Amino acid sequence: MSAEVIYGKDLAQQLRQEMKEEVAQLEEQGIHPKLVVVIVGEDPASKSYVKGKQRASENVGMNSDLLELPEDTTEEKLLNIINDLNEDSSVHGILVQLPLPKQIDEQKVIEAIDPAKDVDGFHPINVGKLMTGQDTFYPCTPFGILVMLQRANISIEGKHVVIIGRSNLVGKPVGQLLLNENATVTYCHSRTKNLREHTKQADILIVAAGKAQLITGEDISEGTVVIDVGVNRVDGKLTGDVDFESAAQKASHITPVPKGVGPMTITMLLHNTIKAAKWIHKK
Ligand code: GUN
Repeated sequence: MSAEVIYGKDLAQQLRQEMKEEVAQLEEQGIHPKLVVVIVGEDPASKSYVKGKQRASENVGMNSDLLELPEDTTEEKLLNIINDLNEDSSVHGILVQLPLPKQIDEQKVIEAIDPAKDVDGFHPINVGKLMTGQDTFYPCTPFGILVMLQRANISIEGKHVVIIGRSNLVGKPVGQLLLNENATVTYCHSRTKNLREHTKQADILIVAAGKAQLITGEDISEGTVVIDVGVNRVDGKLTGDVDFESAAQKASHITPVPKGVGPMTITMLLHNTIKAAKWIHKK
């Protein structure tokens, strides 16, 4: 068996085309969706991510600002900036790129963002809404995975989803989102014993561990759907957490790295910003 490759990049392009039309319609009604991305420090990977986010928002016709703050920015200064953005009615979405330098308490920053502008879906109020099955901003990578599965016509209800990774950004929320879609969910992580016993049981395997080559064809059963969320640099080359070649021999569907989940993350950020603009203007 050879897997069908799900290219998030192609789907992202299609969705962004639809969003472009939606943004144009909102513009006609005098609503100009605006995203502000805040980055603190000089981390090259973070810088490249935020540039991508800003470029994508401009491509769909949204307004977008990038605030680049120095590495030694104080927590107080950042909290003041967030407060100003919360109060600025022209701003619909606020994203503070993580991780933050160590002098800044990340959780404090997340909780300072107005939940109505929290397009990352990281504020505890939005996390709680996701937990209780209410409409809210869903974190972008988990949401992108859900949309990819849906658009590839992969049914979720009753399926056994096995997730490797329990981060607040990906592992935990993707499990919750798929539980809300009636999947049976197993979380695995760095302390899980006999990982392969779990991965072999998966109908849908989501790998978000941040470890290149963690999963190979040996670890999965025939017909598994494999979603690779890993972003690792090995010898200067971008690679996921899954050994694509061997896993593709057994999987029914598989996402590549690059061109897989990554472009969907940015796309869902744009979706959330449009949603924020519509909510604020009650459209
Ligand atoms: N750093 C890595 N991924 C993300 C993300 O989705 N949002 C934010 N704010 N920071 C990140």
